[in-house]
Amino acid sequence: SPLEQQLKDLESFQVIAHRGASGHAPESTMAAYELAHEWGVDYLELDIQITSDGELVAFHDDAIDRTSDGEGKINDYTLEELKALDIGTWFNEANADKADAAFEGAQILTLDDLFERFGNETRYYIETKSPHLNPGLEEALVETLEAHDMIENGRVLVQSFEQDSLLKMRELNENVPLIQLVWYHTDEEDDTQLKEWTNVTPGPAQITDEDFQAVAEYAVGIGTNATYEGEDVIDADFMRQAQANGLPVHIYTINETDDMQRLIDWGVDGLFTDYPDRLLELVE
Ligand code: G3P
Ligand code: CA
Repeated sequence: SPLEQQLKDLESFQVIAHRGASGHAPESTMAAYELAHEWGVDYLELDIQITSDGELVAFHDDAIDRTSDGEGKINDYTLEELKALDIGTWFNEANADKADAAFEGAQILTLDDLFERFGNETRYYIETKSPHLNPGLEEALVETLEAHDMIENGRVLVQSFEQDSLLKMRELNENVPLIQLVWYHTDEEDDTQLKEWTNVTPGPAQITDEDFQAVAEYAVGIGTNATYEGEDVIDADFMRQAQANGLPVHIYTINETDDMQRLIDWGVDGLFTDYPDRLLELVE
């Protein structure tokens, strides 16, 4: 079946376009996803959140300030209000060398917008972002995935830092392949709010076969960082141990060719990158 094929494909290296080709065009916009799709990546990565009127949108930050001409929390706005924002111009201002007038006025995308544009032509690596701030996210996501026949067609992976969000997904539809995100850090003093909600673990990674087996109960893979403030938090053994426990490892977010090559040499199963063109050139 297509779903079995998708799981089989996870055994080979996956090129994951982080928020689209977000090194070249404003993140989470159609321009960024069009580029990544054109280049033939394995997955389009997106973060989803829920609007005040219950619509799913592709957006990373909890607040709209950094990447739009508005301000405040994304979940305080209706879809219509969010659609009126410009999420492209900030990119031109921040990246004079990559600026393109076509990016001006780019609109926030719904998950439906993406599915309507690309359908079955690609796969989607969807993160339930900040589930504690987005109640109802999992229910709305499963409904949308089912409406577009995305699950049985082997088109989606759902990733989250929050185990509860993944377990909820499994409860709603047991066929959705899930990826557990983790973040290792070496800062003893680190006490971000993120820590309260997510799978943040002091590193370097000290992980046992039992830990990996507990994840393998519900997930088909792991997504992790590799470094924290320039220091490695995992190594090639981590990768081998995860793989031996049936969990492919995808690493975020790797943009430099040297770093890509180093992780490929370690045996990584896929990379999230803002520059899928660089990665495709390396692996093709
Ligand atoms: O989803 C993998 C990676 O994107 C996690 O970090 O903050 O870019 O969503 P973030
Ligand atoms: Ca993400």
